[in-house]
Amino acid sequence: MNILAIETSCDDTAVALVRTEKGSLFVTDSLISSQIKVHAPFGGVVPDLTAREHLKNLPRLLRKIFDRNKITAKDIDLISVTQGPGLIPALLIGTNAAKALAYSWRKPLVGVNHVAGHIYANFIGLKNKIKKDIKFPILALVVSGGHTELIVMKKHMDFKIVGQTLDDAAGEAFDKVAKILGLGYPGGPKIAAYAAKHGTCNAGRRTKDNSYALPRPMIKADNLNFSFSGLKTAVLYTVRDNPKILKDKKLSRELCAEFQQAVIDVLVHKTLKAARKYKPKTVILGGGVSANKELRKQLGKAIKDALPKTKYQMPDAGYSLDNAAMIATLGYYKFNLAKNRKIFESSWRKMEADANLKYK
Ligand code: KG4
Ligand code: ZN
Repeated sequence: MNILAIETSCDDTAVALVRTEKGSLFVTDSLISSQIKVHAPFGGVVPDLTAREHLKNLPRLLRKIFDRNKITAKDIDLISVTQGPGLIPALLIGTNAAKALAYSWRKPLVGVNHVAGHIYANFIGLKNKIKKDIKFPILALVVSGGHTELIVMKKHMDFKIVGQTLDDAAGEAFDKVAKILGLGYPGGPKIAAYAAKHGTCNAGRRTKDNSYALPRPMIKADNLNFSFSGLKTAVLYTVRDNPKILKDKKLSRELCAEFQQAVIDVLVHKTLKAARKYKPKTVILGGGVSANKELRKQLGKAIKDALPKTKYQMPDAGYSLDNAAMIATLGYYKFNLAKNRKIFESSWRKMEADANLKYK
């Protein structure tokens, strides 16, 4: 089976071809066109500009993926598209393109949830390797620019949110702190690079290596929710009270390291708390912030130390950030596990982009 996927939920235009082989999913090709240069001068994503760029890039990427893999419409068995959540002008370009293709080629079409897609990035098989052994129940920590959620899955396509951010998402906090420090957009990779130059910090204590002690919001709260907007404000006040940070790379690297560590401490603490409560066999990390090397490493170590029987799974390089291979993978599971696959043959008639799409 060959699945063609389209992802346009935010500022990346992505298409992918994924195939099934002996029950595993393999990426034949995955293309991403980033709009960073278009949005960077504004310090964040401008929703209307995303649509203009997707409209320009999507036909070009589709042509390229068909040409360079020497395939035609008859080779495609299923089309999968991000239906939401995301920016509505951006989602509309992808969903309408997918609906038009499904109608004209007479192919089944599945609309899928972007956040769930980040979980399913972990189900993409490695080239030439056997199927990944991911056992249920799963506890997933999805950390992206728009979401920070802890999700329990007892089986495929069964999502229960057990914790979430009450304000900013983790990636959003990285982006806003980078903006405060004048590091540019997107902030995550920039802060991570600055923090790496400084080294890691102690947990919110002032020491000789760490002059900035930032809070670990909600770490003591007796629930699985997060809050990152106060942490961002703490950085803002630190910079306001010490303006030399903005001119001194050594100081801003130190502040970045402390900020990154504060986010990681909270994410790791709440994930372990959730794991103790829900006793998953596998803990999965996903979303753009899962590209953060310190988070990948520290969460892995914490699980190994505290819950040695629990498996830890992160997306392979290239599938942490937004991509269409994860949308193809999720689309495959949604289609394959549906009681009545026939409904997908007429999806092109009624499927609508939904900026606030919930899990289904
Ligand atoms: O999943 P994603 O590509 O898009 C959304 O669905 O939002 O995530 C993008 C987010 C941005 O906020 C970006 O700053 C953050 O992921 N990010 C990182 C890193 N790379 C990207 N955050 C921390 N460390 C990174 N290395
Ligand atoms: Zn995403």
